[in-house]
Amino acid sequence: MGKLQDKIAVITGGTSGMALASAKLFVEEGAYVFITGRRQDQLDQATKEIGRSVTGVQGDSANLEDLDRLFERVKKQKGHIDVLFASAGVGELDKPIGTITEKSVDDTLNVNFRGTVFTVQKALPLFRDGGSIILNTSVANAMGLPGASVYAASKAAVRSFARTWTAELKDRKIRVNALSPGSIGDTGTFATIPDQMRDYLISQIPAGRLGLAREIAGAALFLASDDSSFVRGIELVVDGGMSQV
Ligand SMILES: NC(=O)c1ccc[n+]([C@@H]2O[C@H](COP(=O)([O-])OP(=O)(O)OC[C@H]3O[C@@H](n4cnc5c(N)ncnc54)[C@H](OP(=O)(O)O)[C@@H]3O)[C@@H](O)[C@H]2O)c1
Repeated sequence: MGKLQDKIAVITGGTSGMALASAKLFVEEGAYVFITGRRQDQLDQATKEIGRSVTGVQGDSANLEDLDRLFERVKKQKGHIDVLFASAGVGELDKPIGTITEKSVDDTLNVNFRGTVFTVQKALPLFRDGGSIILNTSVANAMGLPGASVYAASKAAVRSFARTWTAELKDRKIRVNALSPGSIGDTGTFATIPDQMRDYLISQIPAGRLGLAREIAGAALFLASDDSSFVRGIELVVDGGMSQV
């Protein structure tokens, strides 16, 4: 029996990177998974790759009507949610103070801050008591990475949400935790990163390499499943040690 046998999971931004790897692992462990993404072609490709026990719902996490449509679909098809992995996130790592644009701030906060708030809020009516919510933050939230201030601050807010919502949802026994990836190489985020930056980041990682999306999926599975039944409000850092030394 899988660790998520017969569970219903929703994973936002699930057509690429660590969220796609998580969707695949959750299905292997017995879950039925709903994934989202803005691009229909990517969604079709991802649902094909996952192969079974998956529904793709096109939508933007920053758009409240799209979120309503997502949860309406989940309600109609499965009736409830056991696990939510709010992973959709964006951000620019090359915008030091002095170069930050209004668009960059709006785009980042719309998805990472506003999108996370309303994804969780709109999922709650469908949530079974005892479920698990995982918020995707970043080790950047507690570091001083030059060029990443807006992204890092938006992810600090996400980390903060996990604390407050843990307290607010305790009577429903819904666990809320933050997952904090370091530099994960096989993701869309890293596909376009300049070689020089990649080499610098690797030099800062005690593990001596970038992480893999499936290593984040393993951590997401831990937080989604009963293996973490006594774990609430934490930030689970998965970064090869980068932020710890
Ligand atoms: N990669 C890293 O090293 C790293 C490190 C720390 C934290 N993170 C965080 O981890 C999460 C996943 O990162 P990743 O690098 O694995 O992602 P990725 O490979 O770049 O994929 C991003 C996914 O999110 C979807 N997406 C983006 N904006 C969306 C929106 N507004 N609404 C719905 N879906 C959206 C994308 O599809 P569409 O473009 O079609 O919408 C895609 O499926 C993000 O929150 C990121 O900030 C990443």
